[in-house]
Amino acid sequence: MEGLGFVAGAGRIELRRGRREVKKCSSVRMVASVDSLAVASVSQGKADTQQYVMNTYGRYDITIAEGKGCLLYDDTGKEYLDFVSGIATCALGHASPILNNAVVEQMSKLHHVSNLFYIPQQGELAKILVENSVADKVFFCNSGAEANEAAIKLLRKYASEKHGNENGVILTAKQSFHGRTLATVTATGQTKYQKHFSPMVPGFDYVEYNNIDSLQAAFEKYGNKIIGIILEACQGEGGVVPGEKEFFMAVREFCDSIDALLVMDEVQVGVGRTGKLWGFENLGVVPDAFTLAKGLGGGVPIGALLCTEKANVFGPGEHASTFGGNALSCAAGIAVMQTVTDPDFLQNVQERGDQIRDRLEKLKEQHPELVADIRGWGLISGVEFKPDSGFTSVDVIKESTANGLLLVPAGPSVVRFLPPLIVSEEEVTMAMNKFEEVVGSLLDQE
Ligand SMILES: Cc1ncc(COP(=O)(O)O)c(C=O)c1O
Repeated sequence: MEGLGFVAGAGRIELRRGRREVKKCSSVRMVASVDSLAVASVSQGKADTQQYVMNTYGRYDITIAEGKGCLLYDDTGKEYLDFVSGIATCALGHASPILNNAVVEQMSKLHHVSNLFYIPQQGELAKILVENSVADKVFFCNSGAEANEAAIKLLRKYASEKHGNENGVILTAKQSFHGRTLATVTATGQTKYQKHFSPMVPGFDYVEYNNIDSLQAAFEKYGNKIIGIILEACQGEGGVVPGEKEFFMAVREFCDSIDALLVMDEVQVGVGRTGKLWGFENLGVVPDAFTLAKGLGGGVPIGALLCTEKANVFGPGEHASTFGGNALSCAAGIAVMQTVTDPDFLQNVQERGDQIRDRLEKLKEQHPELVADIRGWGLISGVEFKPDSGFTSVDVIKESTANGLLLVPAGPSVVRFLPPLIVSEEEVTMAMNKFEEVVGSLLDQE
């Protein structure tokens, strides 16, 4: 069959011949059996990605073909325990019946109409979010960066409208991560992400995370020019660094003293990841606004900016998103939120997180020469290797991937554990056994 010839590779030249040929190939593909399509597209996918997709990602040489719960299978059938979950995204795991039913049902009815119309699923998800948080209002978008962009605009609108402050400064933390758009990469306090993209967006400066003196210095420098502070409750990409209560209470106090707004970036740690519904609950502070993405849709793209009534300053036409809050992504968000808000669900997140860190602490006791620190809350954990250990996060992860355990780096020396929030006690035991084997085998290679 011509179509199968194409998917198996012979059709690439045909694709180049023109639009009509492409259409012909794709329509023939439709009649191929699901199994042959799956196998053929997996084998073709790597080559097509290399040829046609921009080279912005350093990828592992692995093609994941299927998943179930906390397990993934590559195109050779090799099984992996997934302790990455799409970088803290697949909260309910892979092929979740709950998420699947919600999305399939919504897709078969209506998935997108635009925000020109009322979207009941958007209202329902906003209600769940508001009833389970300190927020009063929600704006929906599609990603973490977009949610943080909305937050930056919100800070500027608030300062402009309430204080006539048009050239204010937003403080963020060094080693933070807030996204890759121009404003959010400026907000990101890591120069490695900003290189080549100058000039950065004006109106940002950085303080040391968890450092009250650094915060004090910024307040002395800028005073009431500061219009807001954006912080992660636990820095994820920056090395799994949980916030400290004292620091965040000082931040809250400073903000209140000059009517600046505190925005928490909950993109990585919100929606139950820390064992509490919101990361900032670990810190005893109430933000004026916070941002979500990743776990909110369990892997279906959705982002959100939530704010209290005080910060609810956007008017019609001042912010928008074509896809934001469509019925499909909100159906996914509702399914996730209904699951994650169950106290037993969050209890499991706490217990599995403690289980991971207990095992890591034992590893540290056994190998004090290797392990510098164990950090984390709930199901975001990091193990930091000492600079002179000879262990880099990339080396460790390469070995653990070969051993069937997927992990993700958080900087050069920190290995991050981010399993789906549904992970079981047995799966954590298996993962930690594998991780200990990995450390043992790296030591043997030295
Ligand atoms: C804390 C935080 N904020 C924002 C982002 C950006 O999210 P997205 O990649 O969905 O734009 C990330 C992504 O890793 C993140 O961890």
